[in-house]
Amino acid sequence: MNPSLDLPALLADIHRDTQAMFGRGRVADYIPALASVNPCQFGMTITTVDGQSHSVGDAHVPFSLQSITKLFTFVLALKVEGDALWQRVGREPSGAAFNSIVQLETESGRPRNPFINAGALVITDILTTRYAQLDYALLGALRRLADEPNLYWNDHVARSERETAHRNMAMAYFMKSHGNFHNQPEAVLDNYCRQCATEMTCAQLARATLFLAAEGRALSHTDPADEPFLSADQARRVNALLLTCGAYDAAGDFAYRIGLPVKTGVGGGIVAIVPGVAAVAVWSPELDTKGNSVAGAFALERLVQATGWGHT
Ligand code: DON
Repeated sequence: MNPSLDLPALLADIHRDTQAMFGRGRVADYIPALASVNPCQFGMTITTVDGQSHSVGDAHVPFSLQSITKLFTFVLALKVEGDALWQRVGREPSGAAFNSIVQLETESGRPRNPFINAGALVITDILTTRYAQLDYALLGALRRLADEPNLYWNDHVARSERETAHRNMAMAYFMKSHGNFHNQPEAVLDNYCRQCATEMTCAQLARATLFLAAEGRALSHTDPADEPFLSADQARRVNALLLTCGAYDAAGDFAYRIGLPVKTGVGGGIVAIVPGVAAVAVWSPELDTKGNSVAGAFALERLVQATGWGHT
């Protein structure tokens, strides 16, 4: 990393400038429990592979990870299933909305990638087969990665999504009709909604994804063995998928503006990986029409302009 970079000063500048972005998007309301979140919040954390962490604004306020959890479930599935998982899900951008159902019909119930809802449901189906209690297995992995024992899902948010998950349920049944869903859709949806309702702060999220910037090494302060969470090769592949599919039908726009592997969520979070350098988490609840945080994307754009990250 360029030693002359003053990350705290840069974060303060970005924080100031993002205030002008409030009011340009809308908080997600298709999950009723998310509709009541205060829209005018912004937090950002940069955690570097050499051990620095810098935060600004609401970086210590927990928020709903939503689709950002798809990154972690995909990584878990890759660890336990390896390349066999590609029989069940593709690795191409969909060019369609995150909750679109149309491609499933013409593509035999095999979702385009693990980050659109249909693909994430298949991944959760795979993990539901593997783990008797997936919710706790996932929390365990997140707690290890974040070096943070106090991570939970928000049960109110999980129930709220579960009661209104009609479209996700329809996709699960459709995939089951093609033999690409092995468990009961109801059981997988229970797991999926709890997974999506996991809460973290920006500071915790940046820490939890640092392994993707560090060739798969978890860089744990509490685990001196520092065992790799993923191989360097797997980490590189996850980053490739985040770059091409992590922002759904805005993946091209994100690559153009930011040029980093990212994962977004309708809670307003975005995590960006700077391979070899840092993980960056940003959160602001107002979304654009594609379900990605308006101020979050703006902040990341400012960050890469100032640092040159993402332009190598
Ligand atoms: O399944 C859903 O619709 C939500 N639990 C997650 C969607 C999401 O976060 C899309 N990301 N921008």
